[in-house]
Amino acid sequence: MSPEFWHARWQRNEIGFHEEKIHVYLQEFWSHVHLPKGQQVLVPLCGKSNDMLWLLEQGYPILGVELSPIAVAAFFQDNQLSPRQFQRGSFTCWEQEDVQILGGDFFALTPSDTSTVTGVYDRASLIALPEEMRKRYATHLISLLPQGTKMLLITLEYPSQEMTGPPFSVGETEVKRLYQDHFTIQHFATKEALSEAPSLKARGVTKLTESAYLLEKQ
Ligand SMILES: C[S@@+](CC[C@H](N)C(=O)[O-])C[C@H]1O[C@@H](n2cnc3c(N)ncnc32)[C@H](O)[C@@H]1O
Repeated sequence: MSPEFWHARWQRNEIGFHEEKIHVYLQEFWSHVHLPKGQQVLVPLCGKSNDMLWLLEQGYPILGVELSPIAVAAFFQDNQLSPRQFQRGSFTCWEQEDVQILGGDFFALTPSDTSTVTGVYDRASLIALPEEMRKRYATHLISLLPQGTKMLLITLEYPSQEMTGPPFSVGETEVKRLYQDHFTIQHFATKEALSEAPSLKARGVTKLTESAYLLEKQ
């Protein structure tokens, strides 16, 4: 998926992935991550996710990364926040108190950008990318995260021949292949998800599940 693909999606407001509601798995499993309040949480490929606000309300400073300035502006505007903006390397940094969103390419992040991160929330980031990019994404994320970092990862799985993503299907085997050399992996839950995804049903998907995992960097 090229940056142009995502810029065009935001320009045309084709953002079916965006949820107004806070994700149920975030609410159900975040306390199991056991991240002390006050620790910074990286939200890669964050869009304008309201889940960031929920994490903030629970006491976690947020570091989001998002390509689309439309998404970043909408996040702050929708939540009546007025961030200051400045350049940080190749990123436009939008910041208000404990929320910082880096406008730019996730693959341009360096370990110095994430040196204070101890938690990650990945919902619809890994599954936004085709297979080769998922490998690059995981390799890059691994290179960015300090030891001990904990990640709540939420993925979707469906018979991959039924639809061309995004979202792409990512099963437990792939989660392990991507991360098990560097993280311990705990599978929290899997639930049926097709009934809440009529647009994917309309695209031909006959079976869809959503899973949550806790990963801890060794
Ligand atoms: C499927 S959406 C998920 C957004 C968010 N995680 C959520 O739960 O609503 C993927 C997002 O990643 C952004 N994106 C894609 N590639 C990116 C990249 N290389 N760097 C930063 N953001 C990227 C897109 O603009 C889009 O907003």
